[in-house]
Amino acid sequence: MSLTGPNLGIPDLAHHGDAELAPGLLDLAVNVRPDPLPDWLAGAIAEACTELATYPDSSVATEAVARFHGRDAAEVLITAGAAEAFTLIAQGLPRGRAVVIHPQFTEPEAALRAARWPVERVICDADFALDPSAVPDATTLVSVGNPTNPTGVLHPRDAILALRRPGRTVLVDEAFMDVVPGEPESITGLADLTGLVITRSLTKTWGLAGLRIGYAVGDPAVIAAMAAVQPHWSVSSPALAALIACLSPAAGAEVERRTAVIEHDRAFLQREFAQRGFDLTPASVGPFLLTRHPDRPNLHAELRAAGIAVRRADTFPGLGPGWIRIAVRDRASLTQLIGTVDGLAGNTHT
Ligand SMILES: Cc1ncc(COP(=O)(O)O)c(C=O)c1O
Repeated sequence: MSLTGPNLGIPDLAHHGDAELAPGLLDLAVNVRPDPLPDWLAGAIAEACTELATYPDSSVATEAVARFHGRDAAEVLITAGAAEAFTLIAQGLPRGRAVVIHPQFTEPEAALRAARWPVERVICDADFALDPSAVPDATTLVSVGNPTNPTGVLHPRDAILALRRPGRTVLVDEAFMDVVPGEPESITGLADLTGLVITRSLTKTWGLAGLRIGYAVGDPAVIAAMAAVQPHWSVSSPALAALIACLSPAAGAEVERRTAVIEHDRAFLQREFAQRGFDLTPASVGPFLLTRHPDRPNLHAELRAAGIAVRRADTFPGLGPGWIRIAVRDRASLTQLIGTVDGLAGNTHT
């Protein structure tokens, strides 16, 4: 791993998959599952929409999340997506010295910079593995994704915990952890969360990006600091109802089903791309795949011209030209992608 100082070649932190979309393009860019809402989830949201004259109250959802993770309510804060949690951490904690482990989702760094934190980057090397010793001791806030977007790498829990220091907060973005079977590397269940805050998102697996719902679990002191700067009524009542519904046993069974589908389709995509000489990250566990081809640096633009939107990944700090991220979708969409890759000029399929 290597450390880069502040303001060294800042890529576009505000570029996200949705910016890749345009009418008529097949969307393989946005990491949100396209499955229709299950009836029990659509019903919970619809019912909450009959009471919109009432201000939202997040206490029942807070208790539900606390129960789900076996925690105290003081260790939970419901947020308008994980994105709001990043902002609350950046604004609520006393400003110090931040390190962001890259490549990773860029909103934590963007939130820190917006709150005027000085930010350094630790760049993971080619295998994208986390080396906790690369983080300077004086760091007061470390941000790491697990599993990481866009690499799909799942860091061992021990490596995450080795980032802990007295006087330091470790932010672990577990937005995609729900589709890792058994969540073995999650730290939400750790007995002592001192110095830790974990963010989770409901927007990916459940296709609720427009509803804005997520939460943080962590050290009560960090949660209190976040709550102190959160706008009142930040999370709408339909979003709270969706959250409660997504913690039910029916939801657990549906996550298992969706996870199996993702694993199956991701393995198909991995196999097909490996056969065509693409570099693949060691083992993506996410609903997306990071890849590039040594002879096809313009594939992002070529695919776009051919009607397929994938996410350019060269805007992620630590990734160079040619990297793209592909959302794992249904077999028909992935087959269309592979056919298009083969049909494009520069086809290297052997
Ligand atoms: C790794 C990661 N964390 C967090 C988020 C933000 O999620 P939310 O929609 O809950 O704000 C995203 C969204 O793309 C993401 O990829």
